[in-house]
Amino acid sequence: MQGTTAQRWVRRWDAQQERYVPDREERFRVVIDVVRAAVGTGPASVVDLGCGPGSLSARLAAALPRVDVVGVDADPLLLGLGAANTGPRVRLVQADLGYPTWPDRTGLAGPWDAAVSSTALHWLDPDSLAALYRTLAERLRPGGVFVNADHMAPGMSTVDTIAAAVREARTARAGTGNNEDWAQWWQALGEDTELAPLLDGRPATPIDHTENELTVGQHAELLRAAGFTEAAPVWQFGDDHVLVAVR
Ligand SMILES: C[S@@+](CC[C@H](N)C(=O)[O-])C[C@H]1O[C@@H](n2cnc3c(N)ncnc32)[C@H](O)[C@@H]1O
Repeated sequence: MQGTTAQRWVRRWDAQQERYVPDREERFRVVIDVVRAAVGTGPASVVDLGCGPGSLSARLAAALPRVDVVGVDADPLLLGLGAANTGPRVRLVQADLGYPTWPDRTGLAGPWDAAVSSTALHWLDPDSLAALYRTLAERLRPGGVFVNADHMAPGMSTVDTIAAAVREARTARAGTGNNEDWAQWWQALGEDTELAPLLDGRPATPIDHTENELTVGQHAELLRAAGFTEAAPVWQFGDDHVLVAVR
């Protein structure tokens, strides 16, 4: 596969994701601001959970020149696209975050300075997510941060409905609501013969994608129970949040 092919598919991925997260680029900037505030200007290691084709990993490494990023994802095809689209300070590794041994795949010996995630952890069932949060609490250094950017409902039925409507209205204003959707992106990708080797490398059983529907408060509770000292959102638009937890 040519680098330009991967770049074209990642650009198309980014547009597809903006259909669901109209403020995705601003949300990425907020995640980067949090990491910068937590790690300062020194060298730091950051793990990107459910990194997909590395959109956030690449932006983090570009914005923070002394940060090394390890992106973790279960999907070898997305990682393959990301490998051609990220620089030398980003390493992408295949692992299922539902299995407790996934940190071994990162190759990071010492404690991590930060872990980030974007639109990914709603895929994990609550027990797996609680286990993942415990793992993060063990691996992050004291004062290290976990930053989760995702759809997380406020958790009150009327407010949840209003928050979803706010996101819908924002999507209409941003003009991303008619972007290619998830299914269309995968369908089109499957028809690109240049990607056949990457497609053949995907596991026969797809990654489970059942939304856990945890509220932002439930995420914060799970994080505190896992050993984080503080957990609260620092950014919100409708039901879209950036939740920060401090080890
Ligand atoms: C909607 S995509 C978001 C990707 C990327 N973070 C972004 O913002 O563009 C969700 C990602 O989570 C990954 N994922 C879901 N469940 C996973 C698991 N159990 N282990 C590792 N990755 C997982 C998927 O493969 C997919 O790449």
